[in-house]
Amino acid sequence: DDSGPEAYFEQLLAEDSRIEPRDWMPEAYRKTLVRQISQHAHSEIIGMQPEANWITRAPSLKRKAILMAKVQDEAGHGLYLYSAAETLGTPREKMTEDLIAGKARYSSIFNYPTLSWADMGAIGWLVDGAAICNQVPLCRASYGPYGRAMVRVCKEESFHQRQGFEILLELANGTEAQREMAQDAINRWYAPSLMMFGPPDDDSPNSKQSMAWNIKRFSNDELRSRFVGMIVEQVKVLGLTLPDDSIRYNEDTQQWEHAPLDWNEFKEVLAGRGPCNAQRLARRREAHEDGAWVREAAAAYAAKQAAAHKT
Ligand code: 3HC
Repeated sequence: DDSGPEAYFEQLLAEDSRIEPRDWMPEAYRKTLVRQISQHAHSEIIGMQPEANWITRAPSLKRKAILMAKVQDEAGHGLYLYSAAETLGTPREKMTEDLIAGKARYSSIFNYPTLSWADMGAIGWLVDGAAICNQVPLCRASYGPYGRAMVRVCKEESFHQRQGFEILLELANGTEAQREMAQDAINRWYAPSLMMFGPPDDDSPNSKQSMAWNIKRFSNDELRSRFVGMIVEQVKVLGLTLPDDSIRYNEDTQQWEHAPLDWNEFKEVLAGRGPCNAQRLARRREAHEDGAWVREAAAAYAAKQAAAHKT
C-alpha cells in the first residue's frame, strides 16, 4: 500500500512541510544534508580566522568590540550547525576529524588573505552579504533543524553585513589613502564572493537533487545574479566601484550579468591549493589540539556527575 514511510516522506516534500530527525528519510537525503550542513558549519568556524587577524589591529576600541562580537557570532553559527548535523547521526568529533584531515570542504571564500583593515569591511559587506542571499532561502529548507538554525543565523548576518558596509563607508569618506584602501579591498573580494555561490548551474552536480528535496530553493546562478543586483546599487552609496564593467541587467532573462569568473581558480581553491588553505587547516588543527584538555576535563566532569547521580 502507499502509506509506507517513503510515501510519507514524499508527501511531506509535496506539501512543502518539514522533515524532522525522527522521520524516515532516504539515506541519500540524509547524506546530502550531512554533507551540506557540516560544510556550512566548517565554513563558519574557519571563517573566524581571516577576521581574527584584525581584532588586535582594529583602528579603535569600538571597531575592535564590533569585530569581536561578529567573530563570536560566527563561532555560534558553527556550533548551531554542527548540532543540526548531529541530529542526522554524525558525531561532531567525526566532522571535526574530517575537517582537520583536509577531507571536508568549507567555503572557498575563507582561503583568501585579509591584507588591510578595509578587508573587514569588504568581508562584512560582500561575504556576509552573499551569505545572506544564500541563507535566507535556506530558512525554508525541508530539513527542520537546518531551516530553523538559519532563521537565527540570518538575523545576525544582517548585523554582520551592516557593520562591514559602515567600515567601507567611513573609509570611502576618509582620506584619499583610505578610499584607495577600501577600493582595493572591494577589488580583491568581489570575484571570490561571487564564486561563494558555487559553480555555474551547468556544472553543479548536486543542484538538481538538492532542489527536488527542497534543500536548495534557487540555483547557484540565480542567487549569484540576485547578489550582483544588490551590490551594484549599494556600491554607489559608497562612491566606489565594482571591478567589473560588464555588469548589466538582462531584461529578457531577468538576470544580472557579470564578467566571466575564473573557475580554474575556484577549482584550485577547492583542491586545497588556494592562497591560505594550508594555514587555515594548520591553525584549526592547532586550536583543536590546544583545546583537547578542555574537552577531556568536561568529559571527566560529566562522567563524575553521571556516576554521582547513579548512586
Ligand atoms: N566553497 C567550497 N566548495 C564549494 C563551494 C564553495 N563556495 N561551492 C560549491 N562547492 C562544492 C560543493 O560542496 C560540491 O562538492 P561536494 O559534492 O564534494 O560537496 C561541488 O562544489 C559542486 O557544487 P554544487 O553546486 O553541486 O554543490 P551544492 O549543491 O552543495 O551547492 C552551495 C553549493 C551553494 C555552497 C551549498 O552547499 C550551500 O548552499 N551551502 C550552505 C551555505 C554555505 O555553506 N555557505 C558557506 C559560507 S558560510 C558563511 O559565509 C558564513 C558567513 O557568516 C560569513
